[in-house]
Order: sequence, then C-alpha cells, then structure tokens
Amino acid sequence: MAIGNRYLGLIDRYRDHLPVNDDTRVISLGEGNTPLIKLKNIPNLLGKDIDIYVKYEGLNPTGSFKDRGMCMAVTKAVEDGSEAIICASTGNTSASAAAYAARAGIKAFVLIPEGKIAMGKLAQAMMYGAEIIQISGNFDEGMELVKQVAKEAPVTIVNSINPFRLQGQKTAAFEIMEELGTAPDYHCLPVGNAGNISAHWMGYCEYKKNGVVNNSPVMVGYQAEGSAPFMRGKMVDDPETIATAIRIGHPQSWDKAWVVKKESNGWFDELTDQEILNTQKMLSEQEGVFCEPASAASLAGALRDIKTGKIPEGSKVVCTLTGNGLKDPDTAIGQCQQAETLKSIPATLEAVTKAVLAEV
Ligand code: F0G
Repeated sequence: MAIGNRYLGLIDRYRDHLPVNDDTRVISLGEGNTPLIKLKNIPNLLGKDIDIYVKYEGLNPTGSFKDRGMCMAVTKAVEDGSEAIICASTGNTSASAAAYAARAGIKAFVLIPEGKIAMGKLAQAMMYGAEIIQISGNFDEGMELVKQVAKEAPVTIVNSINPFRLQGQKTAAFEIMEELGTAPDYHCLPVGNAGNISAHWMGYCEYKKNGVVNNSPVMVGYQAEGSAPFMRGKMVDDPETIATAIRIGHPQSWDKAWVVKKESNGWFDELTDQEILNTQKMLSEQEGVFCEPASAASLAGALRDIKTGKIPEGSKVVCTLTGNGLKDPDTAIGQCQQAETLKSIPATLEAVTKAVLAEV
C-alpha cells in the first residue's frame, strides 16, 4: 500500500489546471476530494436500470461546495494584496468566505438576508469571526449592494462573479471524470446564481479538450418553483422557497447558464418545496446521505426525469449534493413526524427493553 500521499486540497491536486504559480501562497482547508456515492436502494425502488451517483459536496471543510471556489478566490485575493473580502450570501458562501478569511488572516464582510438563512450557516459565520451585515432584504438586493460597496471600499468580492470561484469549482467535474473514467451521461445540479453549473461545464469541456475523456454530459439545472427565473425566462423579484440556499431571483451567471444549456443539450426544470423535502428525507432514509434542502433538488429532479424517461434507462447520472444536511437542522426536524411524538420514558432497563421489543 502506498504511504505518504497526504491530500493537500484541490489547488495542490490540480495546480496545472488552475491560475497559480510556485510562489502563490495557497489558502487551503483540505477542500475537494469528496465522495461520489453510488445509490443502491433508490434505483431498486424505482425499478429502473440506472446508475445514479451523488457527489457529496457537503463533506467539504465548511459543509458545502463553496469551499472549492473560495480557496481559489481567497488565495488570489491574498496574492493581490487584498486585506478584506466581501460577499452577499444565502448562507453557504458566507460560511466559506468567513472560514477562508480566518485561515488567511484577513477580514470577511458578509451580507445576509434577515430571517432567511439556515441556523448552521449563521453559526458558522459567527464562529469564524466574520463581520456580519444583516439586511432587511433578499440575496439579490444584497448582491447589488456588495457590487456598489466594492467600488467605494478596498474589499474583494468573493461571490461567484469573481472568476477564480468558478476555476476552483470546476475541479468537482475533474474528480467525477477521474473516478468514472468517463464523463457521466447526465449531470444534475440545483441552480441559484448558476455559477456552479457553469463551473462544472467548464471542467467537463477542459478535460474533453485535453483528451482526458471523449464525451461530455447533458447538464440539467433544477430550481425551486418559487425561485425559478430560468423557467420564467426572466428575473424574479420576490423569490421564495424553503430551500433558502437557492432563494435567488436574479442569477448572476444568467448568460453563462443559457450557454451551458445550449452547448450540452440540457434543460432547466422546477420542483415544489414539497418535492424537494420528500427527496431530502428519502435520500437520508434510503441511503444514509443527509443533504440540505437545496441540494435535494438535483436528485428530486433527476428522479422525476428518470421516471418519465426523459433521462433514459442505462444512463450514468451524477447529482451534486451541494451542502450538508446539518446546515439546516430546523427544516430537517420540522419535517420529521418523530419530532412531534418524541417523548421520554423512565431510564430503566424494563422501559427501554419494552420500547425496543415493540419495534423489532
Ligand atoms: N446549493 C446550495 C447548498 C447553495 O448554497 C447554493 C448557492 C446553490 C446550491 C446554488 O449554486 O448559485 O452556483 O447556482 N448558494 C449561494 C450562497 C448563493 O450564498 O451560499 P449556484
């Protein structure tokens, strides 16, 4: 067995594909290298001959795919002499920015929408020591403010409009192709700003161009019904969904995403909040994989398209699970009936034995 192969994060791993040089001080927390888990029980339930893999990005250092982009964005910000970064966020970007800023020893300003960010994400931003600016507005308003403020103050924007973010995020596609030995037939993602779907497409195209693989996937983007500008064909001013991570009406990578759809022969679709929550629960119960609500949109959409045959049998499908389920404990507990019926029994052998025997 080979020893001494310590994984040092994706900049170290993909140095030749990223805009860094030997002198670059790398700001890393060991991001990337996440599991690609092949589902077993859900395909059986479907009764379809299909390979479904989930790329569990919730196992990144701060619990979401944002770490891939943030390590690049913060590394480059530091290289350029920046002493402060700023972002607007539905939660995960702010957690990631705060962590990488802490690691780099610079300041992070994060704009978050009041009352619409999951508890785990807020806890992270606070613990990592970010300057939290809560606004009585949504993500889209926060994003516009960030763009304006960055013109006035010496701060680097680390939202996905920062091109280094997408560079880092494309490495998820590299990992998938290396593991499968090919690109999948379909790659399904939840879409908010559409930065991640654009970054993945960049990664797939790069490996195809370099001859590492000779195929590329159909890219499919799923949105929440109340926040689905790509389905409406125009910006949405009052986005709403329980999947707060993708509660976005004015996607920043609007043009890029339409190009991805066209070039990959892909499509967009939308899901109700209930469909998203049902899939989040099913994935946990059936496969032991706990993702946050927004992440479940990718699998919810894929399952629907597999059922209807839009994604044909025999396909290799990858769904990105963008964030960890622990990010949003309130929504998780809120949908578990057990939470309502949970009651204490005496701490005696007799009572506990009786409780177990009643269920086996
Ligand atoms: N899934 C999760 C868990 C997210 O946090 C996000 C975006 C997305 C999907 C959508 O990715 O924007 O690249 O299309 N979250 C951002 C944030 C907006 O502020 O954390 P996208």
